[in-house]
Amino acid sequence: MLKIAVFVSGRGSNLKQVFFKVPKEKLAILYVISDKQDCGAVKFAEENNIPVFFVSDKVKEGYVDYHFLLNKFLKSEIDLILLAGFLKKIPDNFVDAFDGKLINIHPALLPKYGGKGMYGLNVHRAVFDAKEKFSGASIHFVNKIYDDGKIIAQRKVDVSNAKSPEEIAELVLQVEHELLPGIIEKFCDNKIIVDGGDIKIID
Ligand code: GRF
Repeated sequence: MLKIAVFVSGRGSNLKQVFFKVPKEKLAILYVISDKQDCGAVKFAEENNIPVFFVSDKVKEGYVDYHFLLNKFLKSEIDLILLAGFLKKIPDNFVDAFDGKLINIHPALLPKYGGKGMYGLNVHRAVFDAKEKFSGASIHFVNKIYDDGKIIAQRKVDVSNAKSPEEIAELVLQVEHELLPGIIEKFCDNKIIVDGGDIKIID
């Protein structure tokens, strides 16, 4: 059983995909962590009885800090942390503590269209403006630089007929939803092998 925590800031469609598509006997979503109290992802977690913590790097009523989460995750032996639309930067010491266990889903074909400020519609607008034929989704390990960690898996989608950044966003979201649950299940099955700089996914 893989024990994960999912960090969110918004709608939570990727959280839902993981929740519904990865077999329950293989995966336990122990916590949902959000920097926003009022968002679709939090609502979904609450409706499905997943414990939610709100996190802030400032002292704020109703919010925990990263130190609290670090201890909580170590105590509950979290195997993997998924950033699924989390918009805040994860502090460096937290990244160090969960090196190799922290992954992110990004709505573009990294290393293109990543980095600071590249989130949400900004990404798709840049892809649209550059008249790219393809975009897609990337799942990668998180390091201390935005969208820079080793890529685990990507899926492409043809966006050459898209008439707007919003249309690209829809096409990319579909491939995110196809890619993410499969990769989480691979983690559950121990089929993602990190060998130095190489990442192998076993069929
Ligand atoms: C997704 O496009 C994901 O790639 C990005 O943020 C978005 C989150 O969407 N990091 P949702 O909240 O999972 O619906």
